[in-house]
Amino acid sequence: MKRTATKQQKEALTYFGKYAGDWDRKARTTKQSEVNVIAERNDFVLKVVSERKRVRSALDVGCGTGDLVRALAKEGVRAVGVDFAKEMIETATEHAKSERLPLARFEQASIFDYTAPAGAFDSISANGFIEYISYAELERFLSLASEWLFPGGSLVLGSRNRLFNLFSLNAFTEEELKGGNAPMLLAEALAIARAKSIADISDVGTVPLQKEGTKHTGTGIGVATRYQFTPVQLITILRKHGFEAMELFPIHIHGAPPSFKEAYPEAHGTIANLLQNYAGETMSLLPQSSSFMIHAKKK
Ligand SMILES: C[S@@+](CC[C@H](N)C(=O)[O-])C[C@H]1O[C@@H](n2cnc3c(N)ncnc32)[C@H](O)[C@@H]1O
Repeated sequence: MKRTATKQQKEALTYFGKYAGDWDRKARTTKQSEVNVIAERNDFVLKVVSERKRVRSALDVGCGTGDLVRALAKEGVRAVGVDFAKEMIETATEHAKSERLPLARFEQASIFDYTAPAGAFDSISANGFIEYISYAELERFLSLASEWLFPGGSLVLGSRNRLFNLFSLNAFTEEELKGGNAPMLLAEALAIARAKSIADISDVGTVPLQKEGTKHTGTGIGVATRYQFTPVQLITILRKHGFEAMELFPIHIHGAPPSFKEAYPEAHGTIANLLQNYAGETMSLLPQSSSFMIHAKKK
């Protein structure tokens, strides 16, 4: 039976239905002066998959226009993309057809209505997805992912980075100061900047999750609630569902606050793209990134 969608999910469906054409163009930008967050996230998933012994099947949740699914299919992986926006799935399917990729398959469905056999996938990814679901839906999604993954399988999630609120020096920073969360966020950022590996931060404390169902500061799009997480928050939630966090990876590293990006977009793009080359070298870049990836394995 289909579940009743929340206001947040209804807004996301409307927004992404309208936005498929723009998303398709955004996914392809190669300009040095622009930051291609979609490609940065996809590259991380492809790196995780290439480092595994064998990946025969992969699921990409909230696949958008399907660039990651097609890239996986080109690597010989049987890849499924699920997205609830009809326009996204239509664009993804057209591209896969014109590129003659029989290993890429797309399905229009909410992930909460999708079904798959237990252990069906070696890898599950969800880039830019968890910000559009409630905490109860996140718990449900992680239970489903755990069921659908083969033991030892990889779950890769992209998330907006709440630690970046410390360094964005804008309304997000003000909100954390007012809520009394800044010292704890700073302590987490400091621990991450000093960490040699993810094991060094797994027991670090963190702030409470953002309030549910509220209109969030400057989401920038037609969806009023768009969650942010800190790395330690996600490590903790994943652990509860039987996942062990293996790696964190910064996405869209800012050399300066977003006000600089608004004033000097080209300089911002050049600096961010340069910094991205060092993303896998040091965890110290994580607090400065507006999003991050987390790779966890099903125990
Ligand atoms: C920010 S876009 C990311 C698209 C793609 N993963 C990428 O990185 O380019 C989020 C996508 O999640 C989809 N989405 C949101 N909630 C969903 C749900 N419950 N089931 C399936 N797709 C969903 C939206 O339609 C949208 O295409």
